[in-house]
Amino acid sequence: MSRKMKNKVLEQLKIERIAAEGKCVGHHEGKVVFVANVAPGDVVDVRVTKGRSSFLEAEAIKIHEYSSDRVSPFCSHFGVCGGCKWQHISYELQMTYKRQQVIDQFERIAKVPLPQVMPIIGSEKTQYYRNKLDFTFSNNRWLTREEIDSGETFERNALGFHVPKRFDKIIDIDHCYLQGNISNDVRNELGAFALKEGLGYYDIINQKGLLRNLIIRTTLDEQSMVIVQFGADDQEGIDKTMEFLHQRFPEITALMYIINLKKNETFQDLEVHTYAGKDYIEETMEGLKFKIGPKSFYQTNSSQAYELYKVAREFADLSGNEVVYDLYTGTGTIANFVAKDAKQVIGIEYVEPAIVDAKENAIRNNIDNTLFYAGDMKDVLDDTFVSNHQKADVIITDPPRAGMHEDVVNMLLKLEAEKIVYVSCNPATQARDVALLAEKYDVIKIQPVDMFPQTYHVENVVLLKIKEQE
Ligand SMILES: C[S@@+](CC[C@H](N)C(=O)[O-])C[C@H]1O[C@@H](n2cnc3c(N)ncnc32)[C@H](O)[C@@H]1O
Repeated sequence: MSRKMKNKVLEQLKIERIAAEGKCVGHHEGKVVFVANVAPGDVVDVRVTKGRSSFLEAEAIKIHEYSSDRVSPFCSHFGVCGGCKWQHISYELQMTYKRQQVIDQFERIAKVPLPQVMPIIGSEKTQYYRNKLDFTFSNNRWLTREEIDSGETFERNALGFHVPKRFDKIIDIDHCYLQGNISNDVRNELGAFALKEGLGYYDIINQKGLLRNLIIRTTLDEQSMVIVQFGADDQEGIDKTMEFLHQRFPEITALMYIINLKKNETFQDLEVHTYAGKDYIEETMEGLKFKIGPKSFYQTNSSQAYELYKVAREFADLSGNEVVYDLYTGTGTIANFVAKDAKQVIGIEYVEPAIVDAKENAIRNNIDNTLFYAGDMKDVLDDTFVSNHQKADVIITDPPRAGMHEDVVNMLLKLEAEKIVYVSCNPATQARDVALLAEKYDVIKIQPVDMFPQTYHVENVVLLKIKEQE
């Protein structure tokens, strides 16, 4: 019956609150209606896009009353681009909603006794806070309804971001407020150069075209890595593009390219060529220098990464005698950050080049009490591994959005470390894992940290302590 609701228009729906994944919630005839891109307090007409027996999903088609909490979005791409969907909500309220998301997820999913969730640590920078952006070249630029209705002819090549849920449509970006430094200039000037020179923008449907993808990484002290992915093995076109970037932006400290003839844009398995400069950039944190290679993960908001790591360090509360396991260590940033306060830190991570960087980061910073291993966590962290190493007193874990594999959670229950510091970018999967860990652990502290202003995403750190034996 509910499927019949599809495409039905519901009028004058009052938007009540924010739910998970940044969607807002209203009610229609007792049923929950999830609506994207609105704000609590709005009154809207919506069109149902999905009908289920317990809920409806809908898109706003007309706003009758704007919430008094709304603010004017600062970006001209707002509403089309999927990047900063919460620009219409003041930063103060964004932080309130993010903390509430953590409370809701833990109450709904973890269902264990909880301490009060601490006030969220806000980000000093609410614009230009990202250190990495990934732009796509496409010969299939997304046209807005107004552009189509205008009857004018538009340039169809685009360099920018994917339209949400559309793999084949790209929004041409002329200014992005997420990344500062040379990011906007490099993207715009490279785009203009490619158009002038007739260098082909990628055709995703037919899998051809020279220019495919552009990655820009920056550091707090203005180092920059620019990586161009080419969709054709055309050395003349590649040299022309790279030489333009090299001449026009001599300040790029790592200028690189990849020839990617595969169907997808991931390049972990491809060779990265250094055209000019170094093959890495370095971020500095509390006197430590972290080397970041083109294939390595680094937290995308460098200033807030420091705030996050300080929380993790405070929760770990190390005295210098502990063995710490840093699970999902990436380039070993947390491991090396807490090493001076621990007896030994052991980091485990899936991506091999990241582990190479982690080891090198330890050496460069004269840290001699860290060990790093590459491999899938559920395979590496087993009984043999544990018997070959010292038992962990403290475990710091920072898994990807999917959370920890059940085998890993079971291993943690078996290891019985005194404390677990669980860092997560997805409170829902974190709450799920905490529910399992609650068999042996109490939740002592919950600290949300905002790494991604203008989005609904929230980072969260939980301190778990082993239950007292009865
Ligand atoms: C959220 S990042 C955390 C990185 C690091 N703690 C930091 O702060 O920079 C998650 C990391 O987990 C790694 N990862 C994802 N799945 C994994 C798995 N199954 N086994 C081991 N590592 C994994 C990713 O490569 C990534 O580096």
